[in-house]
Amino acid sequence: MSTDHPPCPQGTSQLDTICQTLAAQGYAIVPGFLAADTCRELAAECRQSWQQGEFRPAGVGRGEALRVRPEIRSDLIRWLANDDCGLQQGRWLALLEDYRQMLNRQLFLGLVEFEGHCALYPPGSFYQRHLDQFRGVEQRTVTAILYLNEQWQEEDGGQLRIYLDEEQTLTLDVLPEQGTLVTFLSANYWHEVLPARRERLSLTGWFKTRPIGEVFPLA
Ligand code: OGA
Ligand code: MN
Repeated sequence: MSTDHPPCPQGTSQLDTICQTLAAQGYAIVPGFLAADTCRELAAECRQSWQQGEFRPAGVGRGEALRVRPEIRSDLIRWLANDDCGLQQGRWLALLEDYRQMLNRQLFLGLVEFEGHCALYPPGSFYQRHLDQFRGVEQRTVTAILYLNEQWQEEDGGQLRIYLDEEQTLTLDVLPEQGTLVTFLSANYWHEVLPARRERLSLTGWFKTRPIGEVFPLA
């Protein structure tokens, strides 16, 4: 385990519990996963790159089919990479790397990489119901989202709505409150972001398996 972590109030041993919950239930919601001051620093780093004009409207689809479709999603994103992010963001990526390794050890998921971004939903923006796996490409396996919004109230909207059953009648709404971590099996849960009435910040990403074509290349 690397020690260069943002402080987890409940200790990084919590990752162990999260893995077990993920295995048993398919998702885990952890309020207060990160300390408030760390979240504030993370949010400040996101806002700074926002001010530097580094955010872009998020797209839908991938590769050639990637399109900006504001009627489906209207957030703005900035991708994060170890060599291209803020100090706290780098520490967050280091913590996610530990989570990846633990997921592999405990659940044998064969996750090889993480891709993630900071997402900013201006007031009025949303993301319609979707699955995080792209059709025909099953690489995105585990989703992890950390929210960075202080004092988020019910009336601020912007809930993450997770559909828990196949009929999509049972739902779970999560307030994007500072420090809350949400993680779920990407293939299993349709979800959406309800329209936010105030600016909504999060760090969102996915642990991926190798593309099947890389494992079994066509002759
Ligand atoms: C996504 C997503 C949910 C959220 O970016 O794919 O579903 O609560 N985000 O930000
Ligand atoms: Mn999603």
